[in-house]
Amino acid sequence: MKILAIETSCDETSASVIENGKKVLSNIISSQIPIHAKYNGVVPELASRAHIQNVNIVIESALKQANIDFDNFANNIDYICCTYGPGLAGSLLVGIMAAKTLSYIYNKPLIPINHIEGHMFSSAIENQTLKPPFLSVVISGGHTELIIVKDYGKYVFLGGTRDDACGEAFDKVAKILGLSYPGGPIIDKLAELGDPKAINFTRPLLKGSWDFSFSGIKTAVLNYSKKVDITDQKVINNICAGFRQAVAETLVYKSFEAVKKYSLESIALGGGVSCNSLIRKMFKDYSKKNNIKIFMPSPVFCTDNATMIAMVAYYKIINKSYNKINNQINPKPSLGLENW
Ligand code: KG4
Ligand code: ZN
Repeated sequence: MKILAIETSCDETSASVIENGKKVLSNIISSQIPIHAKYNGVVPELASRAHIQNVNIVIESALKQANIDFDNFANNIDYICCTYGPGLAGSLLVGIMAAKTLSYIYNKPLIPINHIEGHMFSSAIENQTLKPPFLSVVISGGHTELIIVKDYGKYVFLGGTRDDACGEAFDKVAKILGLSYPGGPIIDKLAELGDPKAINFTRPLLKGSWDFSFSGIKTAVLNYSKKVDITDQKVINNICAGFRQAVAETLVYKSFEAVKKYSLESIALGGGVSCNSLIRKMFKDYSKKNNIKIFMPSPVFCTDNATMIAMVAYYKIINKSYNKINNQINPKPSLGLENW
């Protein structure tokens, strides 16, 4: 069984073909980072325009890499799926229209997929031993969420960010320090050169709640940076190290409190921030210490990609949880997590 997936929720145009929920035949990602970098963030109108320019090329490349073209499409692709939310309305619309068109032309079922569910199951792409129940930790540019995955399509939302998403905080701190966009990778790199103990930034743990608040750490960086010389590279490196340490400790503390409280045995990370080297190391170390299984995607599957969307479609297909041809699919920019 082959699934074609299309993902255009934010600033990556991506298409993928997977076989039997196991084999990734292609995973094409066209990133728009150079377009948005000069604005220090994603500009929605520019994102949709770039998706319009890229979407056909990306789909054709994904098919080609899977040895499929439009002449043999009907015999090779069994299902089409696309992200329908949450995300930017104009961006989502481009992927949805492409998916709808192919679904009509080739008379294939079209399965709408929630972007967050994609991140939640992204570790399963490379490690099929990931099975519910587990704690999902989604940390990206738009989300910071702790979710108990009781089963496929059965979720308990524990908490999310009250202000900035985790990746957003990295991006805003980078802007404060005059670093490039996106901030996560560069802060991660410079933090390696700094002393994480030099500056003790706040760790907002919000005890008694599973929510996060990263804007406090960001404001602490802003206030600190006004008092020091941020043209001094050593100062920048120490700020990056202190900030990264505070974020990583907050995430690890909350996640391991949750697995303990709900007697879970596995944690799966997902989202762009799970590329962070300290976050990966700390989750690995704490898992070992606490006898918890930890699942982390390779960097290419941490950031937005269509393969994670295809994985969720596969679970929906084998659990018979989709409509045959769903021509009612429209963008749902604020889509929440729904059980199925
Ligand atoms: O999942 P993603 O590609 O897009 C969203 O769905 O938001 O995540 C992008 C976010 C950006 O905020 C970026 O700064 C962050 O992931 N990021 C990182 C790292 N690599 C990417 N944050 C911290 N450390 C990294 N190494
Ligand atoms: Zn994402």
